[in-house]
Amino acid sequence: MRRLTVGTARPYDVVVGTGALAGVGDLLAGHRRVALVAQEAVLDLHGGAVLHDLTGRGLDVVVCDMADGEDAKSFATVEALCRRWADAGLLRGDAVVALGGGVVGDTAGFAAAVYHRGIAVVQCPTTLLAQVDAAIGGKTAVNLPEGKNLVGAFHQPVGVLADTVTLATLPEREFRSGLGEVAKYALMGGADDTFGIGTLLADHGGAVLARDPAVLADLVARCAAVKVDVVTRDPEERSGLRATLNYGHTLAHALETAGLHDLQHGEAVAVGLVFAGALAGALERIDPARAELHRTLVDGLGLPTRVDGLGADELLAVMRRDKKAHGGLTFVLDGPDGLTAVDDPPPAALAVAFAAVGVDV
Ligand code: GLY
Repeated sequence: MRRLTVGTARPYDVVVGTGALAGVGDLLAGHRRVALVAQEAVLDLHGGAVLHDLTGRGLDVVVCDMADGEDAKSFATVEALCRRWADAGLLRGDAVVALGGGVVGDTAGFAAAVYHRGIAVVQCPTTLLAQVDAAIGGKTAVNLPEGKNLVGAFHQPVGVLADTVTLATLPEREFRSGLGEVAKYALMGGADDTFGIGTLLADHGGAVLARDPAVLADLVARCAAVKVDVVTRDPEERSGLRATLNYGHTLAHALETAGLHDLQHGEAVAVGLVFAGALAGALERIDPARAELHRTLVDGLGLPTRVDGLGADELLAVMRRDKKAHGGLTFVLDGPDGLTAVDDPPPAALAVAFAAVGVDV
């Protein structure tokens, strides 16, 4: 089991490994009542052990199931959760356990951020994507019809329990999608592979895809360690460092917002990484071999590298509206000093990058 400490104003631990969920009762000792939020299928698979641990410690548990999919990440769900908690008598000193993927973590986390102006939340991510990224760092949000994650709050959890046993039961596409964020961390390590994630994927790629428990626990812990370090140094995305976690995400968000392809988040990130590599290559920030590595890494993980049939103009329009843009176009790109923000690259370089992912220019 790996324990990593996020050094925010109120520090908390991210525990990664087999059996991490068994720590939930310890984390909530001293609380009186707990709302356990999860989708029904996840409750069936993993809720029993969590419930047993919580009730075994004398906690009064209110089980709240919520629907599946991005549409459930809404104000309507937040209202339903908060009303359920009010009905059950949850007070400011009580707590929420979010058990599931990014949709549950973001929505229950946001509800916990605003209920009684903020109650404790334990994030228990059960997908690869949530374990390496979404559950760590306190970003919570819901979607609006106008865009994803447009309403949210920073609300750091009191702990994150990433039990890698839960990865064994993930549907294959969901698991692969999480590898899109893993590819991001591998590439964030630069040409000298600072975090050893690229080497791990190169040496044990087959075991990762076969979900070997020991290899996966190591992989998740390495990725989580990168996230923990970045969040500790820039908890609320003020210095620009945390923005580097959005490597590959500018195009990814546009692909998701344009909604013309049925892409899961990690799949969109995968295409976004290939685009970012090609753009950095066209700007001569990285050499052609490193740009090509973006594609081969993503491809080797069984993720999409292109999205045929889309036009650059509509994607550019969506990217200019991105909540992280400052009126123009901003990309996080690899370069001689590692990842940095690059504003308004020239059209010729953008054209090369779009062509690299099959987008018409
Ligand atoms: N997923 C990016 C961040 O947490 O900052």
